[in-house]
Amino acid sequence: MTNKMTGKTYLIIGGTGGIGRAMIEKIIEDSVGSTVRPQVFATYYKNVPDLEVDNVHWLSMNICDEQSIEQAIDVIKQQTDHLDWVINCAGLLHTGESSPEKALRQMDTEFFLQNMQVNALASLLIAKHTKTLLAKAPRSVDNPAIFATISARVGSISDNQLGGWYSYRMSKAALNMGMKNLSIEWARSLKDVCVVVMQPGTVNTQLSAPFQRNVADGQLFSPAYSAECLLEVLSHMSAAQSGSFVDWAGKSIPW
Ligand SMILES: NC(=O)c1ccc[n+]([C@@H]2O[C@H](COP(=O)([O-])OP(=O)(O)OC[C@H]3O[C@@H](n4cnc5c(N)ncnc54)[C@H](OP(=O)(O)O)[C@@H]3O)[C@@H](O)[C@H]2O)c1
Repeated sequence: MTNKMTGKTYLIIGGTGGIGRAMIEKIIEDSVGSTVRPQVFATYYKNVPDLEVDNVHWLSMNICDEQSIEQAIDVIKQQTDHLDWVINCAGLLHTGESSPEKALRQMDTEFFLQNMQVNALASLLIAKHTKTLLAKAPRSVDNPAIFATISARVGSISDNQLGGWYSYRMSKAALNMGMKNLSIEWARSLKDVCVVVMQPGTVNTQLSAPFQRNVADGQLFSPAYSAECLLEVLSHMSAAQSGSFVDWAGKSIPW
């Protein structure tokens, strides 16, 4: 991790998830021995967090409910005047009742809309409510504020060779368009913020657990490894790269 990350104020959405929790742990681990400690605001939804560190502040947030997003951000505003990095690690691939579709006949309106709400719409609402905190972050072209969302390679239209997973693929493609749009708007109205969508690799979490059978040897990342790579990539981003879709190694992914 670079010194660009020391002492920053972070908001990690989905801090109870595999990748989100690993991000928090990595940020804290890298600050050990540093004179300036990071502040981490982290959100949970259904799982009560069990990571207790004094500079990690947990907040309840349902990203499908704009009022819940606003309430959590209001609590943050009482504790800090700015956010340097916002990373949305929340997402949905399957639920207790529904799995990603193998064929059209499995399409279900409720599951589709749930995917769109969690994976696509939420990042826009989070951006809407964090804009004023990002606006107050000390920043420059080479050291921008960050607004990142974990997307997925399967949201790439040009990379789609296999089909299936209609709801998840469509929601991640919609997320990507939303974040590209946001990068254009903020290049005009909120300078020196880098808006990024990222592919984390195939990561060993509850989200990918039912689909790991065909993953090639060595291709299933631990959450810690994925989080480390993603944070490293973000720490090298400049404002000129806003609107990027990149993988865990920083390699650009075609839309
Ligand atoms: N794992 C992979 O291989 C992989 C591959 C490509 C892309 N991704 C993407 O990476 C991101 C993180 O995935 P993960 O593997 O870490 O998943 P995960 O372990 O299942 O974590 C999902 C997180 O999302 C939160 N969440 C779900 N619905 C929410 C809601 N309505 N409101 C607020 N939070 C909500 C969960 O909160 P609670 O636990 O508190 O309910 C949890 O923190 C997702 O966007 C996923 O699509 C993952």
